[in-house]
Amino acid sequence: MKDIEKKIVKVANHVDSFLKSYLKKKTQNSQLYEALKYGLFSGGKKFRSYLIVTSGKLFNLNYKQLIAVGAAVECMHSYSLIHDDLPSMDNDDFRRGKKSTHKVFGESTAILAGNSLLTLAFEILSSNNININSKSKINLIYALASSAGYAGIAGGQFLDLKFEKMKVNKNLIVDMQNKKTGELISFCTESAAILANKNSQRKFLKKIGLDIGLLFQITDDLLDLFGDKNKTGKPTRKDKQKGKATIIKSIGVNKTIEFSYKLLDNITEKLENKYRSKAVSLIDSVNFLLKRDH
Ligand code: IPE
Ligand code: IPE
Ligand code: MG
Ligand code: MG
Ligand code: MG
Repeated sequence: MKDIEKKIVKVANHVDSFLKSYLKKKTQNSQLYEALKYGLFSGGKKFRSYLIVTSGKLFNLNYKQLIAVGAAVECMHSYSLIHDDLPSMDNDDFRRGKKSTHKVFGESTAILAGNSLLTLAFEILSSNNININSKSKINLIYALASSAGYAGIAGGQFLDLKFEKMKVNKNLIVDMQNKKTGELISFCTESAAILANKNSQRKFLKKIGLDIGLLFQITDDLLDLFGDKNKTGKPTRKDKQKGKATIIKSIGVNKTIEFSYKLLDNITEKLENKYRSKAVSLIDSVNFLLKRDH
């Protein structure tokens, strides 16, 4: 395992421990609770949490605070994946190397497990157990809510489904991908400025996060085309079959790869100029995401 992968696993373990001890306080013996845990602890990469931790290094932030924010983001992310796999959406039977939540628990329970994880994200951010001041908490809740709704994940997923089998230009695809994936990833980078109380840097970090999110979704689309399902843990070669609007479909593989390296150079240059050596880990994590195989 590469050094950076080891670091990501370490952060992933800390986020899982946070979530396990948070949920322990409210254990329920129901199928819904089992479904929620199945979707949440099914072994995702936790790349978003790692991005929060590396963004935190820009301001020397407290690690425990970053892990708590990561835990909220992973709840939101797992909700989006449970719903993304539903028959009425992408209709995928496998996720993270296991059966999708609705295949194990049924559709209605999967919908409710997703809803529960969506609200759990905000419950965690507003809880008294986490050591974040009230003003930052409200700013975090506002930013996370914005990234999830009609101008974020839900809006992007709506467009993703609407655009199936349609001829869509690159700008509209970028807008759709910014919403479904970019907004949550940009929350991860922006959250560091919120925690640091650096309001003037929120806009910059949000914009950088949107570009990182675009790079993330482009890599996901490339992995759908060229990846190994044993590594990605989910079906591959499905986007074309479903007629998904992707940048690859719009401009072809070569131009997409060219575009993603330009995006990477641009992100790196901006971060280096603004944060110098404090941005090293964040830049490393962005480099990693383009080279990932899962
Ligand atoms: C997959 O996200 C969905 C997209 C937004 C492209 P990840 O690749 O982060 O999924 P996990 O959490 O590692 O399973
Ligand atoms: C999903 O995009 C983005 C979400 C917000 C869940 P995809 O549909 O491409 O994600 P995968 O490939 O199923 O993980
Ligand atoms: Mg989808
Ligand atoms: Mg999908
Ligand atoms: Mg995909």
